[in-house]
Amino acid sequence: MSRIQIQGFRPLKGRISIQGSKNAALPMMAAAVLHRGVTVLSNVPLIQDVECMKAILNSLGCRCIQKGGVLEIDASLLHTTQIPDCFMKQMRSAIILLGALLGRLGEASCCYPGGCLIGSRPIDLHLKALNGLGALAEEEELQVRVRAREGRGPTGGTIVLAYPSVGATEQALLGAVLAEGETRILGAAREPEICQLCRFLRGMGARVKGEGTDCLSVLGVKSFDLHDSFFSVGGDRIVAGTYMAAVMAATGDVQIRGADLEELKEPARLFMKAGARIRREERGRDFRISIKERPRGLTLETAPYPGFPTDLQSPFMAFLAGAMGESCIRETVFEERFATASQLEKMGARIKVEGLTASIKGVWPLMGARVTAGDLRGGAALAVAALGAGGTTVIEECRHIERGYEDICRDLSAVGAEIRWMDAEK
Ligand code: UD1
Repeated sequence: MSRIQIQGFRPLKGRISIQGSKNAALPMMAAAVLHRGVTVLSNVPLIQDVECMKAILNSLGCRCIQKGGVLEIDASLLHTTQIPDCFMKQMRSAIILLGALLGRLGEASCCYPGGCLIGSRPIDLHLKALNGLGALAEEEELQVRVRAREGRGPTGGTIVLAYPSVGATEQALLGAVLAEGETRILGAAREPEICQLCRFLRGMGARVKGEGTDCLSVLGVKSFDLHDSFFSVGGDRIVAGTYMAAVMAATGDVQIRGADLEELKEPARLFMKAGARIRREERGRDFRISIKERPRGLTLETAPYPGFPTDLQSPFMAFLAGAMGESCIRETVFEERFATASQLEKMGARIKVEGLTASIKGVWPLMGARVTAGDLRGGAALAVAALGAGGTTVIEECRHIERGYEDICRDLSAVGAEIRWMDAEK
C-alpha cells in the first residue's frame, strides 16, 4: 500500500515539467484499434491508467511496446471484442473501446464500468451515441453489448447529446470513423482533450471536423483509408492545475513547463482572483505562478469546458481550506465529488457540505494529520493541503493518485517541497 509523507510550510520555488495528458492519451490508445496497423504516441504519461489500457489492448490481440513516453500500438492482429471484466472495473474510461471495436469488428461487449467513486456515473449517453450509429447497444444484467445491425458496420447518423459528456462524445467519434456515411454529433463536449483526439484521428486518415465547437462531423472512411500515424500527446492541464494549487497553498514562485495556459483560462482567472500572479515566460509556452501571502477565498462552480473543470475542484478546495475568509464551491458535474472535505476536516478545515454546495471557512494554519486518498484528484488535493499545513501529513492509499500522476513526490520535491514516498520500493 503506497503512502506519502509531507512536511508543510515550505514555500515552493523552481520549475516543474508537466507530464502528458491522461485524458488525452487514453482515448487515443482506444482509437488505435480502428487501424489495422501501427500507431505511435509520444509524451504518454507513465501512470497506472495507461498501464491498464495497455493491458486491455494486449488482451484484445494488440501489441503495445512502450519505451519511456513513446508508446507503439500495433493493432493489426486485434481479434477479440470482449473487454475483460477485471480491467473495466479498474478504469471506467475503457468503455470508449466499444465504439472503436464496433467500427473495426462490428461488435463489442464489456461489463458495467468501474473507476473513481464520484457519483452515479451512468452510461446512457454512451449507449445513445452507439445506437445513433445504427448499432444495437443494450445493457443485459451487468453486461453492455453493442453490435452492428444486420451484420453491417456502423452507419452515420445524427447524435444529439443532452449533456456534453466527454466520454460519450469520444464514443460517438470513435464509432463514426469507419461508419458508412456522415455522422453529426450535436451537443458535443468541447474539452481540449476532444480537440486533441480529433487532430489525432485526422492524422490517422479519419475525416473529422468541428473540434472546439459543440457540433462535430465525421465523414466515414474505409479501413484501408486509415494509415500508420504518430502523435505527440499534449501536457496535462489537470496536473498543471494541481501543482498551481500547491503553490497557492504553500506560497512560492514556480515555472510550469509543458502545459498550455490557454486550456487553463478559467482556473487561472480564479487563481489570480485569490491573489496569485500568473505570467507567460518570454519564450515558448511556459508560464509562472507566484503568490507571497495566504490566498483569499473564492466562489466557484464546476461546468463543462470552457467552464471550471470538475477535476480541479478538490485541489481548489484544498488550498481554499487554508485561505483568508470564506469560499463557496458548487459542483454541477459529479454530484458526489465532495468526499475530500471529510479528509480535509481531519487537518482542521471547516467545510460544510450541503447537496451540491460546499461552504468553506478558511482556517490558518491547517495542521498535518493522517488522511486517506479516496479518489484520484481528491488524493492529490490532500497533498496540496498538506503543503500549506503545519506539521506532518501522511496520506494513505496513494494508489489512487498513481492512476493519474506520474510521480507527485518527484514533481513537488523538485520545487522544494518536503514530500516523499514512505514505502521502501518507491
Ligand atoms: C471525463 C474525464 C474526467 C472528467 C470528466 C468531466 C476522462 C478519462 N475522464 O470523464 O476526468 O472529470 O470527463 O470533465 O477523460 N453522464 C451521464 N450519462 C453518460 C455519461 C455521462 O449522465 O452516459 C454524466 C456523468 O454522470 C457526469 C457528467 O455526465 O455527471 C459528465 O461526465 P462525462 O463528461 O461523461 O465524464 P467522463 O467522460 O466519464
